[in-house]
Amino acid sequence: MNFYITTPIYYTNDIPHIGHAYTTIACDIIARYNKLLGNNVFFLTGTDEHGQKVEKAAINSNLKPKEFVDKLSVNFINLIPFLGCEIDDFIRTTEERHIKASQELWKQLEKNNQIYLSNYEGWYSVRDEAFYLENELKKIDGKYVTDNGSPVEWVKEESYFFKLSEWQDKLIDFYENNPESILPKTRYNEVLSFIKGGLKDLSISRTTFNWGVPVPNNSKHVMYVWIDALCNYLTAIGYPDTNNNNYKKFWPATHIVGKDILRFHAVYWPAFLMAAGIELPKRIFAHGWWTNEGKKISKSLGNVIDPYDIINEYGLDQIRFFLFREVPFGNDGDFSKKAIANRINADLSNNFGNLVQRISSFAVKNNDSILKPAENLTNEDQNLINILQNKFDEYCKFMNDQQIDRAIKSVLELISAGNVYVDTQAPWTLKKTNKIRMEEVLYIVTNIIIKSAIMLYPIIPTSSKKILNIFNYNMDNNKFENFTKLINQNIKIDNPEPIFPRILND
Ligand code: MSP
Repeated sequence: MNFYITTPIYYTNDIPHIGHAYTTIACDIIARYNKLLGNNVFFLTGTDEHGQKVEKAAINSNLKPKEFVDKLSVNFINLIPFLGCEIDDFIRTTEERHIKASQELWKQLEKNNQIYLSNYEGWYSVRDEAFYLENELKKIDGKYVTDNGSPVEWVKEESYFFKLSEWQDKLIDFYENNPESILPKTRYNEVLSFIKGGLKDLSISRTTFNWGVPVPNNSKHVMYVWIDALCNYLTAIGYPDTNNNNYKKFWPATHIVGKDILRFHAVYWPAFLMAAGIELPKRIFAHGWWTNEGKKISKSLGNVIDPYDIINEYGLDQIRFFLFREVPFGNDGDFSKKAIANRINADLSNNFGNLVQRISSFAVKNNDSILKPAENLTNEDQNLINILQNKFDEYCKFMNDQQIDRAIKSVLELISAGNVYVDTQAPWTLKKTNKIRMEEVLYIVTNIIIKSAIMLYPIIPTSSKKILNIFNYNMDNNKFENFTKLINQNIKIDNPEPIFPRILND
């Protein structure tokens, strides 16, 4: 199967922070899981470089917009390997291929009689790059702001409009027939009731600044940044060349986005696509927002979390694990040093690390480091193998629905069962009474360690590889095929090393 996963493209108005890292790592986890399933994966990320917000930031830095975005996009490009993410393409919306693709999409909409010229008069938030109705705003100190506190300004200009209102019923039909195309369920319900509340035609061009993709045949207008931005998902796989191999293989995509930009992805984007005669996305998953020690993350509060700082302090896999274990994917979460330390210590050091460490060092000390496949399985062995089967099934089911936290929890439950098995089978006692059985126990639990490391590989790839190295296990052999069968070969163990050092809680 082919699988196409995308992050939102990030505004190049500032440096990346933990929110950007979160979405990118989420997609990396889902991409790696799909590769383990044997799927052919295309993972896209990039930068959103047009619009008033970016132009204003460039002016504030005394740089020309293009010089400014060339400089800022590098920070996003460099962050990807630092986050341990393996992408297939990085798109910048100022690239020629993208300007061509978004103009083609525009022309297609025009050809299908979906665009008309009129005048826009209303509220606009540069911070959100969004138009607002007065009833969506509140007044603070006599000034209108959006629900999330973004300032708005009154805009009056000639503008092209997209006939969004014509798509209301078709969108409702589509979502009612495809209830899993927006997840989590609460977000699906929100989107559906927003659409049912009525859709107005959407202003899709601006004339009061010019940092954007020129509207074909009317260069007085630049495209509204969101129509340009959303089109990136098509550009990267070859649009407008719909015979392109990647386009044929990978569209439609799975989009992972933050809850703040769900409306653009789940209402405007599908309407543009339907209007252009293009298939709708396979799924749109909206995740929640992180706060820092209980407070909203914002530049003005000075509490922005720099992904470099936090990863340098705790370790890459530790942070990847924390972000996706701590909070149900889809919910909001709170970033706190105490919570990070507790998670790493409880789940990685005490549960998984402890199992790996005690089994590998015991086997090296007492069994010449070679484990042969067990021949006679006891009820206890079979019971643990059944747990492996159940937990693997759960894990796949959760991963397929992007419930990453629940998938991780299933693996941790398997590891706990492995620890209990070791405690009750007590290989240190068997060493004196029944060496053959001791070896069988070590072999069975080593299987559990290897399988757990593979299941956690999408989340903690470096640590999983280190663990598999201790057991000389080459993951390339195993793409979840016959996953719950015991490994039918000798397992050699060397160089046990602690993988997850405990974090000292202060
Ligand atoms: N450029 C648009 C997306 C266009 S996609 C066609 C954009 N960019 S952004 O840089 O502002 O935000 C990108 C992503 O970061 C969004 O999904 C947003 O939800 C996420 N986050 C920003 N701050 C966040 C947190 N504090 N917590 C979690 N994610 C957050 O929107």
